[in-house]
Amino acid sequence: MSFPKQFVWGAASSAYQIEGASKEGGKGPSVWDTFCQKKGAVWNGQSGAVACDHYHRYKDDVGLMRGIGLQAYRFSISWPRVLPNGVGKVNARGLAFYDKLVDEIFAANITPWVTLFHWDLPHALHRRGGWLNPDSSDWFAEYTHAVVAKLSDRVQHWITLNEPQVFISLGYQDGRHAPGDKLPFKKLLQVGHNALLAHGKAVQVIRKHATLRPQIGYAPFAVLSYPATDGAADIRAARQDMFTISGKHCWNNTWWMDPVFKGRYPEDGLKLFGKDAPSFTQKEMETISQPVDFFGVNAYMGNKVRAGKGGKPERVPLPVGHDLTAFRWPVTPEIMHWGLRFYWERYRHPIVVTENGMSNIDWVALDGRVHDPQRIDFTRRHLLALERAIAAGVDVSAYFHWSVMDNFEWADGYKERFGLIYVDYSNQKRVLKDSAHWYKQVIATNGKCLHKEP
Ligand code: FCB
Repeated sequence: MSFPKQFVWGAASSAYQIEGASKEGGKGPSVWDTFCQKKGAVWNGQSGAVACDHYHRYKDDVGLMRGIGLQAYRFSISWPRVLPNGVGKVNARGLAFYDKLVDEIFAANITPWVTLFHWDLPHALHRRGGWLNPDSSDWFAEYTHAVVAKLSDRVQHWITLNEPQVFISLGYQDGRHAPGDKLPFKKLLQVGHNALLAHGKAVQVIRKHATLRPQIGYAPFAVLSYPATDGAADIRAARQDMFTISGKHCWNNTWWMDPVFKGRYPEDGLKLFGKDAPSFTQKEMETISQPVDFFGVNAYMGNKVRAGKGGKPERVPLPVGHDLTAFRWPVTPEIMHWGLRFYWERYRHPIVVTENGMSNIDWVALDGRVHDPQRIDFTRRHLLALERAIAAGVDVSAYFHWSVMDNFEWADGYKERFGLIYVDYSNQKRVLKDSAHWYKQVIATNGKCLHKEP
């Protein structure tokens, strides 16, 4: 077993989580800037106003990435930095930042992968109804065009939306994320439909206007299942569990993936959601299902499933004391084998792991280093399972670790540390964690060292 020769090893971040400089360079406020000001919205009243100050330190940060030997770096563009009002006048200084960042990344021999939307909607657009406004997909197309005009002479890898399920559920249903709304289900699904349309229109804009031949992907949140055993009945049950819509909420795969990859909403969802489902035209479905080049999988954890009575999927509770990350997310590396396999079987789209990682309780030890054996073990187990998926014939061409550096973890503020690089927020000093040094070996050996004890 081995990784293909051309396999790409990367790490990821997003604008609001690392940039800071929230009021600099002509940037307008995003819904996250305003949400963080609400009392009790974010852990300890924290915000991304400064974050990792990456906006000012991007050169050093890219230098560290070069040190790790990253081959690709996935980052997102802040929409309100480019268009402070969301639409209309382009902020040249905002685009200039990404222009310089892209050059710096190339100079470090790293390939940039650009995410267009990682949740920081311009506040000005939120005031106009945000994703509920029927014009929202056109706004996104306009923004995409501005970015493509500036960067597509160098950038070839594009990701439209990051995890619609997450920003829609947490932001528009639970109110736990920006903009903090609690919409009824029907409106929520309309938000979803508009976001899917935005994805499709962005794909069209990129294809039409990109200077260099683009590689375009979409990165929904992966709701993953894996079989309790390798027996055929459990495998069938896990597969069925992954592709069934079983509740009136957004936490499923098919509602968000079938429209993009198959050009239709799933039947079971339409039936279950009934009158709450959005009405749409065939033309809209065609827009949503524009051909894309890769399927981005953000994989963190999954459900263990066995065949119950009559083969029906049954989720198996994890035993007491099961491995958990600092976030208390279960450690389930099987997802990288089974989850990816199930996606490949259903969608037949080349897969890129656009996010995978864990939060850990990291600190700088007396020896000046950050020892994070859990992250090394977690990543090693997930990558070995990924290698198994590849051996089983799944087309996976890249892996992005989340995250390149510790950052602002949304409503959890700076409590959770996901980085390969440790950030001391009191002085913005960075320290490469042990996992970063280890990942460097993984990259240098194209995964061969995974089979050796670290
Ligand atoms: C994903 C998000 C990313 C980060 C990780 C931990 O859902 O895309 O921004 O918060 O989780």
